[in-house]
Amino acid sequence: MASEGVSRFADDLPTVERFVSLGEGDTPVIELTALAERLGLSRLSAKMESQNPTGSYKDRIAVMSLSLALHHGNAGWIATSSGNAGLSMAAYGTRAGLAGFLCMVASAPQEKRLALLPYAVEVVSVDGVGREGTAQVATALMEQVRVAAEQQNLFLGITAHAFNPSGMRGVDTISYELAEQVPDASHVYVPTGGGGLLTGIARGLRHRGMTAKVVACQPAGCAPIVDFLNGNTDVSAISRCDSDISALQLPRPPDGTLAATAVETSAGWGTAPDDAAILDAQRLLAKTEGVFVEPASAASLAAVLNDLDRRRLQPTDHPVLVLTGAGWKDLARFEADDARVPLITVDDVVSRVDKWRSSL
Ligand SMILES: Cc1ncc(COP(=O)(O)O)c(C=O)c1O
Repeated sequence: MASEGVSRFADDLPTVERFVSLGEGDTPVIELTALAERLGLSRLSAKMESQNPTGSYKDRIAVMSLSLALHHGNAGWIATSSGNAGLSMAAYGTRAGLAGFLCMVASAPQEKRLALLPYAVEVVSVDGVGREGTAQVATALMEQVRVAAEQQNLFLGITAHAFNPSGMRGVDTISYELAEQVPDASHVYVPTGGGGLLTGIARGLRHRGMTAKVVACQPAGCAPIVDFLNGNTDVSAISRCDSDISALQLPRPPDGTLAATAVETSAGWGTAPDDAAILDAQRLLAKTEGVFVEPASAASLAAVLNDLDRRRLQPTDHPVLVLTGAGWKDLARFEADDARVPLITVDDVVSRVDKWRSSL
């Protein structure tokens, strides 16, 4: 039987004539038993959003957005992206037969940029946004994109409630699935940048009657929502980003207030591990469980480690990590490891295996 994708939840989503699908959704929840044992948790689970067709949960938003664009008779679509949303919009836009224009953050990882190029999409790289960017340039970009969308009858595919609330409803389907897969989860750990993902997940959990606490996970160097939740600032905005974690570099999160309210309503909290802890968590997950995700996703595990240290989590809790994006999306950090791979001759293989076995 053909996969239904997120259209399985059509009754709970905005009305469209048809869903544009590439077989997204219905991602597995896996038990991280080795890690749970190591951390002294009775259970630790992971929602594998990295297994969506283009390697991130953004596919769910793209399905909804492109289906709405067809429904409303848009001539095409336009979006901004640090990589994942652009890739999803490019794939689903192509699938829908709609032309697309994408403004990429110039500092996005090379893998995220290269992966776009095979699709039928017009890509430009925009300077002055992302880690090095200023709030003024980021705001001006959003405004320019909004104006272009209006003038050209394009669907505005920016993945935030502030710009595309109906498209963002696709995120809720993550929680509809969690309600079927792990109804007894005590906490849902959500990597958080602009806050739209967390807002949709929290809404979906509530809709399905789940009482899990929602935890916002941001890198310490760019944690406006966590700072706000901790009472350190009046608004969820900071002056500059000081983190290298792609996709979580939003000093002025467009959905910051919505996300903070959603966390508080769920009786959750915010946790902000630093970049080094996030990158360590990325390796820990790969080495102990065979699960390789992009750094942004590993912020969820780094936050769990942080919360265990601070006794915010108890051994009887059952946290779920939302693993938002695949590891291949950001590989530059492994170049140093690659340089250490020895070059040997065929004659050395047996002795090398011997040496390796005795080192285990
Ligand atoms: C892999 C990944 N994780 C988490 C997020 C955070 O989502 P949001 O910006 O809606 O908070 C993003 C957003 O781009 C992402 O690409």
